[in-house]
Amino acid sequence: MPKPIIINNTIKKFDKKIKIEGDKSLSIRFALLASQAMGKSKAYNLLKSEDVISTINCLKKLGVKIQWNKKKNYCEINGNGLDSYVYKKNLTLNGNNSATCVRLLTSLLIGSPEKIKIIGDRSLKKRDMKRIIDPLTEFGATFYPKNKNNLPFHIKGSNYLTPINYVELKGSSQCKSSVMLAALLTNGETKLKCKPSRNHTELLFKYLKIPIKIKKIKNFEIIKIKGRQNIKAFNYNIPSDISSSAFFIVLTLLSNNSKLILENVGVNKSRAGVINILNKMGAKIVLKNKKNYKGEEIADIHVRSSKSLKSINCSSKLNTSAIDEFLIIFLAAAKAKGVSYFKNLEELNKKESRRLDWGSKILRMMGVKNKLIGNHGIKIWGQPNLKLNNKYEIKNYLRDHRVMAMSTIAALTLGGKWKIHNPESIKTSFPSFFKILQKDLGSKINI
Ligand code: S3P
Repeated sequence: MPKPIIINNTIKKFDKKIKIEGDKSLSIRFALLASQAMGKSKAYNLLKSEDVISTINCLKKLGVKIQWNKKKNYCEINGNGLDSYVYKKNLTLNGNNSATCVRLLTSLLIGSPEKIKIIGDRSLKKRDMKRIIDPLTEFGATFYPKNKNNLPFHIKGSNYLTPINYVELKGSSQCKSSVMLAALLTNGETKLKCKPSRNHTELLFKYLKIPIKIKKIKNFEIIKIKGRQNIKAFNYNIPSDISSSAFFIVLTLLSNNSKLILENVGVNKSRAGVINILNKMGAKIVLKNKKNYKGEEIADIHVRSSKSLKSINCSSKLNTSAIDEFLIIFLAAAKAKGVSYFKNLEELNKKESRRLDWGSKILRMMGVKNKLIGNHGIKIWGQPNLKLNNKYEIKNYLRDHRVMAMSTIAALTLGGKWKIHNPESIKTSFPSFFKILQKDLGSKINI
């Protein structure tokens, strides 16, 4: 069992430039699309985290040739075109902790003549899979056992796949992307009506010249995709991950007299809601050196300590663009003046752990008054002068990397004596988290 970390000291002031690892959503999407392209595709700065490694390992088991040169920081995937996986008998694919891996990869298996078993870890087994089983069944795949809505399950594909019309109401990019990827293997046009969510898959489809049409109608997007069009091999430089960056942005906001520049971060508007929300709370986060890379917006993020954060009544329109950042946003709200309110966040309790509940629990442990509203909202009574002096222990949180990282940032900015179990959980999304904290920013963490 890896040892817990101990944090007894807040971080000293810093003024630094850092580089965060590659974006997880884009890394997984690159690997999946490259595996369906014709020829050698190459990604620089692919995230070397467990979620991405799980995806690569599944693809290797499906016969895809992959060379990951970690020294030269590139990954080369040799795709054989659409629906070219090698399906062995009794194949088991393990998504470990990654719902993105399982929900997106399963859609590329709808042509499999063999039954494939899909498994995952303790956290992933609790995640809802009905949201992909339903549309993939409509395309023509069969799932076993019948009426089971979570892992483990088996999928068997079909020779007779048909395009579908699908309505996605959760604002889940994983569901949307699952339907979009399955559409690639299907003759004809698949239509999706969906609530907006991160649009990396759409941007990659456009860049790869996959026939896609997108229209906005009121609060929905209508996406149409023509399937069975060959994809050419491609190269991609993965920008830094905004979700990982968010922990360092809030670390800086809540520290004294500090400044930080985070270079080359993906700040696509459908994804970077955290910047919008924190700026509405009085932070002065500035984007410089903005670029457009293959449809994705990229920028350097400049942030400095803030003495005057204020509460927010957060519009639920911002929810999907900051869905992975709410735990760290709740921490900022705990130090803001006034009562903050976040709502319509029922998806938060369906993540790697019940994150809405964990946010409330950790703030309460810190003495910050908060109230859960049903299963979807939280009110947080902020304390601008919040300083902690007690002992705090974080454990049994299903190894949720973001619960771990949020607790670490609380310890480094608010004080107290913290014991945080399962620090290794961070490897799912952000293996260099502690190295940046210790080596680049000089924090004292007992690992
Ligand atoms: C992801 C989408 C989000 C997010 C997850 C990654 C993606 O999930 O929470 O960490 O890469 O598409 P949902 O789409 O289910 O909200």
